[in-house]
Amino acid sequence: MANQDYETHEHDVLVIGAGGAGLRAAIEAAAQGVSVGLVCKSLLGKAHTVMAEGGIAAALGNVWPEDNWQVHFRDTMRGGKMLNNWRMAQLHAQEAPDRVLELERWGALFDRTKDGRILQRDFGGHRYARLAHVGDRTGLEMIRTLQYHGIHQGIDVYMECKVERLLKDGDHVCGAFGYWRNTGKFVLFKAKAVVLATGGVGKAWKVTSNSWEYTGDGQSLALWAGADLIDMEFVQFHPTGMVWPPSVRGILVTEGVRGDGGTLKNTKGERFMFNYIPEFFKGETADNEAEADRWYADKKNNRRTPDLLPRDEVARAINAEIKGGRGTPHGGVFLDICTRRPADYIRKRLPSMYHQFKELAGVDITKEPMEVGPTCHYIMGGVRVDADTTAATVKGLFAAGEVAGGMHGSNRLGGNSLSDLLVFGRRAGLYAALYAKDFGGPLTVESSHVESLAREMLEPFTRTGGENPYAIQADLQETMQNLVGLIRTEHELREAMKRIESFRHRAARTHVDGGRTYNPGWHMALDLASLLTVAECCTLAALERRESRGGHTRDDHPYTDDSWGKINVVIRQRQGALALSREPLPEMPAELKALFQERK
Ligand code: FUM
Repeated sequence: MANQDYETHEHDVLVIGAGGAGLRAAIEAAAQGVSVGLVCKSLLGKAHTVMAEGGIAAALGNVWPEDNWQVHFRDTMRGGKMLNNWRMAQLHAQEAPDRVLELERWGALFDRTKDGRILQRDFGGHRYARLAHVGDRTGLEMIRTLQYHGIHQGIDVYMECKVERLLKDGDHVCGAFGYWRNTGKFVLFKAKAVVLATGGVGKAWKVTSNSWEYTGDGQSLALWAGADLIDMEFVQFHPTGMVWPPSVRGILVTEGVRGDGGTLKNTKGERFMFNYIPEFFKGETADNEAEADRWYADKKNNRRTPDLLPRDEVARAINAEIKGGRGTPHGGVFLDICTRRPADYIRKRLPSMYHQFKELAGVDITKEPMEVGPTCHYIMGGVRVDADTTAATVKGLFAAGEVAGGMHGSNRLGGNSLSDLLVFGRRAGLYAALYAKDFGGPLTVESSHVESLAREMLEPFTRTGGENPYAIQADLQETMQNLVGLIRTEHELREAMKRIESFRHRAARTHVDGGRTYNPGWHMALDLASLLTVAECCTLAALERRESRGGHTRDDHPYTDDSWGKINVVIRQRQGALALSREPLPEMPAELKALFQERK
């Protein structure tokens, strides 16, 4: 087939991924007057963005007038254990308030303070109550607002469409090739600029808050196109996912429960977090129950409870309690909000949690504690981008949101992802549009490349005797969960590498029955390429970083090592093989460094 025989669409800017970052990027690019295509793997509005339930972090200062972008910047850097790209963290903290107010102008209905301003709640690692929220459905409200705003901007939306490869002409990106999930037919996009906004990699792990779409597509598309990935060792296990019943294991339990007063307890009824306060946070975190309860009663100081330490600390503490034999029979710990809060308050502030536990677990959280445990939620690493423009290291390619690395360093603070999506989604759309306007040459797509991709994609139908691709995904998930999880060792990581290699051989022989019309087995056979790619990148980077920091804990290198605090682990693909290097972090300017002298 020649290119002209495939269904073809041409745009100045093609945005791949339609969660918060993708929608915001598409809106901004359209506002620049260029033609925009927005591709989503599932239906518009179904995005992991909705799993950021508790709020959008932005220093609006509505509850604490003392809050400002400098404090937010400092919290974000400290939460990320100083490995963040400082410029991204600075832009994020400076621009988040405007992005939230803009969302409000576009129709988002936030909860309110008594005097009618946007209410802000406590979350882990944030110095002040900072999360603008809509009960425990903030991500959903954000997607709803962006979606309704976006559909009036002349954006062409391609739903149920999966991109398999980016296309290049020489050194620059010129489009993408993929298929419609419902018909199985191929589709070719020509584009001057491409924005990746595909989210995370959670479906490589067994226990995860991510749904089926999150198979590392954008990270892999970028890598295969020659772009750099950074920090892939840093995977966030949200401390509180559901653990029971097994069918719902991993579903998120918002940090808003702890933000609103919930406490973690082991089976002995102990509030164990007091035993896990790291040196770094001593002095600013209550170190005993009486003090925590006093601060809690003085409503403005709830954030000082150790239940609201950054996520990496809380997840490790829960893991240690479970390993130490103080976990619940279903392998979790208790999260109790009913002791401190009346039923009406819980139902009003946390309506989704109330229904989630009632309907899925038969637990009434206004009367009983929840059972919770860590769940793979987010990856801090991703496509290396320029902080200001979001440009990746390949011309014409941009990335924003979870797919991009750098902003959150080694550990993301809760609530910083929704603000990240808005701040860098806008920047990606803007700079991709400007790039497209400047783009001189014609868009030339090489037919032979497209042809070989099409042949490769159909191979699972032609093989005989191979395995069901879901069996390989299940084995991969088991491996990543057990060997590249919350706590890692060199021995386990090497074993994981061996297994990933064997999964690759098995994946190359998968066989699928049936035709191309809505065939999930075929979709999984194709998704295995990206799942295995990101699994290998995470494992390789985790082997390389011989220290513990944020979302990367090595049992065999248990301490944080200052020399590693200045280094990004970078992965790129050259001549078909992965190459890994250690590269210095950009140096922070003196005026920002000075902010760390203050510890208000
Ligand atoms: O716990 C939560 O509501 C999740 C928020 C986030 O990941 O930012």
